[in-house]
Amino acid sequence: MDINEAKRRAIELAQQLNYHNHRYYVLDDPEIPDSEYDRMLRELQGIEERYPELLSIDSPTQRVGAAPAGKFEEATHLQPMLSLGNAFTAEELQDFDRRVREGLGTAGLVAYSAEPKLDGAAVNLLYEKGVLVRASTRGDGASGEDITQNVRTIPTVPLRLQGAGYPARMEVRGEIFMRLAGFASLNQRIEDEGGKPFVNPRNAAAGSLRQLDSRVTAGRPLTMFTYGIGEWEGGGKPDSHTELLATLARWGFAVSPDASLVTGYQGCLNYYETMQQKRPDLPYEIDGVVYKVDSAALQEELGYVARAPRWAVAHKFPAQEELSVIRDVEFQVGRTGALTPVARLEPVFVGGVTVSNATLHNMDEIERKDIRIGDTVFVRRAGDVIPEVVRILPERRPDSARHIELPNSCPVCGSDVERIPGEAVARCVGGLYCKAQRKEALIHFASRRAMDIEGLGTKLIEQLVDADLLRTPADIFELTADALEGLERMGPKSAENVIAAIERSRHTTLPRFIFALGIREVGETTAKSLARHLAGLEALVAADEDTLQGTPDVGPVVAGNILRFFAEAHNREVVSRLIDLGITWDEMPQVGDSDSQFSGKTVVITGTLSEMSRDQAKELLESLGARVTNSVSKKTDFVLTGENPGSKVEKAKKLGVTVISTTEFSKMVNF
Ligand code: IVH
Repeated sequence: MDINEAKRRAIELAQQLNYHNHRYYVLDDPEIPDSEYDRMLRELQGIEERYPELLSIDSPTQRVGAAPAGKFEEATHLQPMLSLGNAFTAEELQDFDRRVREGLGTAGLVAYSAEPKLDGAAVNLLYEKGVLVRASTRGDGASGEDITQNVRTIPTVPLRLQGAGYPARMEVRGEIFMRLAGFASLNQRIEDEGGKPFVNPRNAAAGSLRQLDSRVTAGRPLTMFTYGIGEWEGGGKPDSHTELLATLARWGFAVSPDASLVTGYQGCLNYYETMQQKRPDLPYEIDGVVYKVDSAALQEELGYVARAPRWAVAHKFPAQEELSVIRDVEFQVGRTGALTPVARLEPVFVGGVTVSNATLHNMDEIERKDIRIGDTVFVRRAGDVIPEVVRILPERRPDSARHIELPNSCPVCGSDVERIPGEAVARCVGGLYCKAQRKEALIHFASRRAMDIEGLGTKLIEQLVDADLLRTPADIFELTADALEGLERMGPKSAENVIAAIERSRHTTLPRFIFALGIREVGETTAKSLARHLAGLEALVAADEDTLQGTPDVGPVVAGNILRFFAEAHNREVVSRLIDLGITWDEMPQVGDSDSQFSGKTVVITGTLSEMSRDQAKELLESLGARVTNSVSKKTDFVLTGENPGSKVEKAKKLGVTVISTTEFSKMVNF
């Protein structure tokens, strides 16, 4: 390849790489696989190595970063980078809108372009003839630091503009930031390497931009949205902000997908509320919204005060982080018995509300963040999320600061507190006995798939527990219509219906009964398996670890949960009271008793069955001692197939598993 040919090919490759980079990073809509992109990039690198004179500053190969520079040079902005006035309340927003209308001498409604206020670092990009020639930080507004090498590594920043019609020289302004997912994985990486993680995405973005070695910046998940211009030399300017954003997007820049044209003060306020609601779901942090008078002509008419435009304002969301002091720590018992440490704080206004409690999650978190009573802490409340303690300020720790200790017994019921080694969560073992866990346990007990007591739902159970009419599931069977009638929205008729439903539920099945007990991680399948493999309830209560683990579906964790459940005297007492109160079930076919060919076998059902429903087939198989599972493996004994079976039959054939049709199945089981 001679130099002319190489040059032609290099230009072609650069064009294609720029195009695909834009599709991938800005439009999030790639056209070619990564491998193809990498191949083209390597080809271009090869050409540039052979003919260094072909290497240009806008070459896509320049995104990988370069050897460290000594320091950042100063870069003077061609047009100053302004700041924005703030509005913190609806009144302040109204004042802004009034000033705009007074300034324009209009009583009519003003059109504003509204967009999120990104929480990152503002940068200025200088393009000459469509090529990025310099990128700089905001600095003091007049000049900042030259961070061109670093910014070139950011894939959403075009090194060369697309399309046509751009001015000979222009400054494009926007925010460089880090998405939450990128921030989390970066921090994980830093922590894995023994480094100190960044406190928030904004610091991570700013810190990454200030790396002297741009190869480090290249490895940081930075991105950019553009939202404004400075210098504009040659070529017609868009005549509105909306048009500007569309133009920037056409040239290959990323702009916020949430920008919107709104009308008047009320339109701004609606936008603010919409974005506030959207905020928790956004993949990046925003700290407010910005409104800009949309018309460029009106912007010019309004002009500037001090260092901020009269035509724009930032409407800030309430701060999400504030400082407070931990006065004390208490432990709350949740619905599953989990003990959550909660910090009692000096009340502080954060995220729009006064916060005086914040979760500390669990003991591991307390240790990791080194939190003590008396510490000054950053409290965060984002959206509707529960307030949490983000980190402490070690320099403000008083001598009197105290360690936080996990209590030995449950603060609600006094049962033992257990912390399983390797698990972060500590739990009260009180189970059904612990009032904190009682409501949830009772709701589960009465639920459709458990004891199936119609009419005994969440609302009623809550009322009954609050009135102290229900303590344990056994109490359900001693309820009277009289007692129920006294409750809210409970006429004599509904009370009778509930009592009748309770009566009906006395006769159940052993799997339902075991499931209803609410033993941690004992779901319906495990309950069925236990019922089938152990010789009745007594055997379950008395089973040792080996026996439990000998049951399909039961591993060491579940076995441990079952053992702990029946080790509590309260739980054994509730079970025997239930039996005394007349809970009964039919004998179950036991595994091994049955001479059925399905006993102890693993069966997968696939396709549409004709003679019976899938659930019926499943129940039938299970009553014959089979285990019904979802995926075909070497351990599968039979695949029962109906019409339109999927890939499961193929797989079964490949593995040599016996496939049976519904007709064959019916014959085998005399259905
Ligand atoms: S416009 C003349 N739009 O907020 C207008 N700024 O508080 C100049 N910012 O320095 C800025 N998102 O770093 C504008 N959509 C947005 C913004 C935004 C974030 C930052 C920017 C600016 C600061 C002013």
